Parts: sequence; C-alpha cells; structure tokens
Amino acid sequence: MHGVILATLAALLAAWGCSGADTGWPAYNKTLHGQRFSALAQITTANVSGLSPVCELIIGEDGAFQTGPVAVGDTMFLTTPHTTVAMHAATCQVFWRHIDTSGKYDPTSVNRGVAYLGGRLFRGLPGSRLAALQASSGRVVWEVPVGDFSAGEFLSSAPIAWDGMVYIGLAGGDWGIRGRIMGYDAATGREVWRFNTIPMGLERGAETWHISGTAERGGGGTWSSYALDPAAGELFVSVGNPAPDFDPDARLGDNLFTNSVVVLDAKSGNLKWWFQATANDGFDWDLAAAPMLYRTGDGDDRVALGSKNGYVYSVSRATHKAVFKTPITTILNADQRPTREGVRACPGALGGVEWNGPAFDPTTRTIYVGSVDWCMTFKTGGYEYARGQWYFGTQMIYEPTDSAVGWVYALDGTEGRVRWRFRTPKPVVAGVTPTAGGLLFTGDLAGNFYALDKRSGKALLTIPTGGAIAGGVVTYLVGGKQYVATTSGNTSRGTFRNMAGGTAKLIVMALEAPPRGPRRVRLAPVNAGGLVSKQVEEGKQLFERYCAGCHGAQGEGGSGPSLIASSAPHEMAAILAFIKNPRQLMPDLYPDPLNDRQVSVTAMYVRTLQRWKH
Ligand code: HEC
Repeated sequence: MHGVILATLAALLAAWGCSGADTGWPAYNKTLHGQRFSALAQITTANVSGLSPVCELIIGEDGAFQTGPVAVGDTMFLTTPHTTVAMHAATCQVFWRHIDTSGKYDPTSVNRGVAYLGGRLFRGLPGSRLAALQASSGRVVWEVPVGDFSAGEFLSSAPIAWDGMVYIGLAGGDWGIRGRIMGYDAATGREVWRFNTIPMGLERGAETWHISGTAERGGGGTWSSYALDPAAGELFVSVGNPAPDFDPDARLGDNLFTNSVVVLDAKSGNLKWWFQATANDGFDWDLAAAPMLYRTGDGDDRVALGSKNGYVYSVSRATHKAVFKTPITTILNADQRPTREGVRACPGALGGVEWNGPAFDPTTRTIYVGSVDWCMTFKTGGYEYARGQWYFGTQMIYEPTDSAVGWVYALDGTEGRVRWRFRTPKPVVAGVTPTAGGLLFTGDLAGNFYALDKRSGKALLTIPTGGAIAGGVVTYLVGGKQYVATTSGNTSRGTFRNMAGGTAKLIVMALEAPPRGPRRVRLAPVNAGGLVSKQVEEGKQLFERYCAGCHGAQGEGGSGPSLIASSAPHEMAAILAFIKNPRQLMPDLYPDPLNDRQVSVTAMYVRTLQRWKH
C-alpha cells in the first residue's frame, strides 16, 4: 500500500518536473511543462552576494543573442543564428562548434536554442531548415526543409522533443505567412503531422476569417518555444499575431488561432481545445512566449500565458476558460483600434511579455514573469502585400527608448493577486528562474543580471554584464557544485532599437570568485550576414558595380549615405524594401538592372558590411 502510494507520488512528481535528479537544465524552459524552477539550494539568499563570474564564452557572432542555454551533464549547448556551440558548463572550455555555412539567411536573424533528446540536438537553421546534430560532436545527422524563407517563413523557436518526436512551428506572422506547427520523427526528420495555426476551408475556426482570401496570409507564427504534458500527451502552442498587423478591419472576424494557445494531441496533431487572448488584434499582441503548465494548491491544472497585451492569463485545463488575468504593464486604449491619425496604446508592439514567459515555483505556488512597459502609436493606412516583406497595415511609431522600462512580477498562482513587483531601468525579456535557495534570477536590457529574493522581490545582487540580457538565465550542477549562467550582449537593433548592445557572450557564475578574474574563452568571429558564401561573393561584385560609386567601397558613404551607420536600415527586409522602392535621391535599380535574386544577394552583402550591428 505504502509502496504504491510512494511510487505514484514519485511518478506524479517526476511528471511535474520535480524528479530527484534535478541537477541540469535539459530544455529551453528546463522541463516540458516549462516551469523553470530549480530545486538547487547551494546558492541562497544568505550567500548570493558572493556570486561572481568564473568564466565567459565570447560567442564570435554579433547580432541577436537570445538563446536559452541547455545544460546536460557537464555540457552546455548554445546557439546563434549560424552557430551551435557545446562548452564545458563550469569552465567555458569549448568542446565543438558547428557553423552553418549554407549562406542562407532569415528575414530576421534570431535563434532561441536547441532541444535535447537521446544524445541529439535539434534546432532551426537559417533558410527555414530543421536539423539534428550529434550532441557529442556537432555532426549533422539529418537536415530537412521546413518552410519557404523567401515568403517570410523561418524558425526562431527552440523546438521541444519528447518520446521520439520533435516539435517546431514557423515564425514570420508579420510577413503575412500562413502559420503552422509540425511534429517530426526525431530519428529521421520525417514530418509526422502538421497543424495549420490559421484554419481554412473545412478546418475548425475557418469561419472566424470573415473576408475571403484573408486567412491565407493571416500570420499566426510561433516564435519562442512550446510546452508539453507527457502524462496527457498534449502539446501546448502559443500562436502569434494576425497579419496584416495594425489593420483589423481588413481581416474581420476573431482570426483564430492567432493570439491563442492551441492544445494538440502530441502524436497526431489533432486539435483538442484552444483559448484566445486577443481576438481581431490591431496592436500586434502576440502570444509569443511558451505556455507554462502548473497545478494549484487545490489540484486544478492550469496553463499560464504571458501575452504581449500586458496580461498574464491562467486558463483552466478543465473548463478552457481564464480563471484570472492580471495586468503586468501599463494598459491604455486596449479596446480601441488603429486609425489613420494614430492611436496611442499600451503596451506597444514591443511590450508586454516577449519571448520568455511565466515561470512557476511549486513550493510557494507563485508565478514569476518579466515584462516590457513601453507604449506606442499605431496607424493604419495604405499598404500592400509583397512576398517576403513586412505585411504591416500600416505603421508603428516608437516612443523614446528612455520611456521603456521593465518589471518582474510575482503573482499568486491560484488567484492572480500581485505578491510583489520589481521595476528595472530597461525592459525584461530574459528568462526568469526561481530556485529552492529562495532566489529568482533574471536580467534586463540595460545589461544587469539580478538575483532577487523570491519572497519579497528585493534585489540581493546586481551585476552589470556589459551587454543587454535577452536570452536565458539558467542554473545547474556540475561536479556537485551549483552554477548560474546568463546570456549577455544582444544587438538585435530591429527588435529593441538602441537599448540592445554589447558583445554576445555567455557568463558562468559561482560562489567562489577565481583569484585572477574570470577565464575568457573567445571564438573566432563569424560574419553575421550569412558567412562567406557564393551568394555573398556575387553580392560583393554587384555592390561594387552598382552601389559603391555612391555609398563607398565599404558602404562608408559618399554622395549617398553610409550604409554601415547605425541609422541605416539593417534588417534584411528593410534593406530589400529600400532597394526595391527607394526614396527620391537613390536611383531605381529594380527590377532592372537588378532582378529579385540580385537584389537579395546585394542586400546580404550590405549586411556583411554592417557586421558590428545585427
Ligand atoms: C546614384 C547614387 C546611388 C546609387 C548608385 C545607390 N544609392 Fe543607395 N542611396 C543613395 C542616396 C542619395 C540615398 C539617400 C536617399 C534619401 O534618403 O533620399 C540612398 C539610400 C540608400 C539606403 C538607405 C540608407 C538610409 O540610411 O536610410 C540604402 C539601404 C541604399 N541606399 C542601398 C543601396 C544599394 C544596395 C545600392 C546598390 C544596389 C545603392 N544604394 C545604389 C544613392 C545611391
């Protein structure tokens, strides 16, 4: 009897991510449920002031650095858009580095990390490819095409893997894609099923697109990662915004399954149920972060969602209804829609909960989440769909970056009451990690790493890291000793303008500081524009022939402006758009003498000149 109860308890605890061997950080959000709670307690509220860097890995590819580090045994796996790195999780010694030299690129270069299963890593690669790598060597085991990157379909998410399957969906809602999420056979890369996040025809929800023809460019990307309940075999997917952004009248109806969590049978991809946070959205209020599965004190199974609309939702898995929604940013004009004159709304399109979502401490039943408090003015007006370009209808007008601040909130997981909140000088888009040591680790875009007292929200330790923290903050054990690692340095200027900055690096911290300072390991630089490839070489020749005369041999400027200045457009989509549709003083070079492909390779080359800024 006792044995049975104990075994059942152990199975339950294991299912909820609390197994005895809680030492590593084996997935983007630690467990499939995505609670991010670590049972490690060597580092505590009493001794955390002694935490300091022991080593740093300087990644060598500048640009977006938003990876969620994954630590298995003594090895940590990190990604950038073009590289995958395996390093010793306590010393930063590099075991291997895989560089994708395909020369392919994405509309926005960003990668959020790997999934680990049975000695293999799974990740998205530029050009909308999914790959499996040998975790021990970095050797590519298989690689499959997933989407059409020339139409704006790409893979920014960290996939998740479970029971012989790998799950990943397309990003790119803002380019007017029709989103979908897929299940793959982990052994071979064969697609087992796909679920369209924008239903059409006889699919359930198709009737929520009232204007015919709008669903096929309806958006619904998936951006960060996913959650899965192994006991129920259910996959939880956060779906992003509808397209065109900012023009809800152009796509009347609720626009399912945008801004919704969809719950699928993980083996078949069949839809079980869904919950929509924002219907017929005009403000780009995605569900962009992974859902988080938890249980309340009275045994109620819930899914927590952090939305870009500035709320955290707790949805009952029994009734499929929100039990609470708690605001975690300024909320303004949420019931309006963009107009020709412009409507100011809060949060703005870069506000609320971004790509790292809610965490949960099962010992105190507290939800923790970071947020971005930044408003914006939204305008609607004339625009057209153009393949592979932003499908915005029409415009977002940023407010000064000084007005953007961040929060860390602690909410009671059952009823949603605010337990405390902590204000940061710049937005919080990093992962938040509660521990059994009484701490909450996170960071902000000002580059501060924080260890907060998880009960009061008081900052016990602040370490300036010198670069915007925009990826994972994790904790794990190596050789019986607890470490904390944070990403630092994110120059995804397109996402957070001049708040982002710093050289991409991974910092590992422990309680005893090394006497001669942290060990620095430096990887050879990789070109952010898609590496040295045939395409870039062709782009270079075209640039010299058609552009250098006005913009300088290295893009430094001449009669035309500098293309490497911080004010120059730098996202692929923006450079392409400018060449194809230039302002007055720049000549028309498209479609003649430069065709589509030639404009693309020239734009790729321009990006390589801007290597310090992506
Ligand atoms: C005859 C001179 C000339 C040529 C040739 C030329 N440009 Fe330009 N370009 C300009 C000028 C002038 C501007 C500024 C336009 C304005 O703001 O009105 C400009 C602006 C730009 C911008 C936007 C810069 C910013 O800060 O907003 C980009 C990008 C650009 N050019 C890329 C190119 C590329 C790539 C080529 C070659 C395929 C090219 N240009 C060829 C003159 C030229």
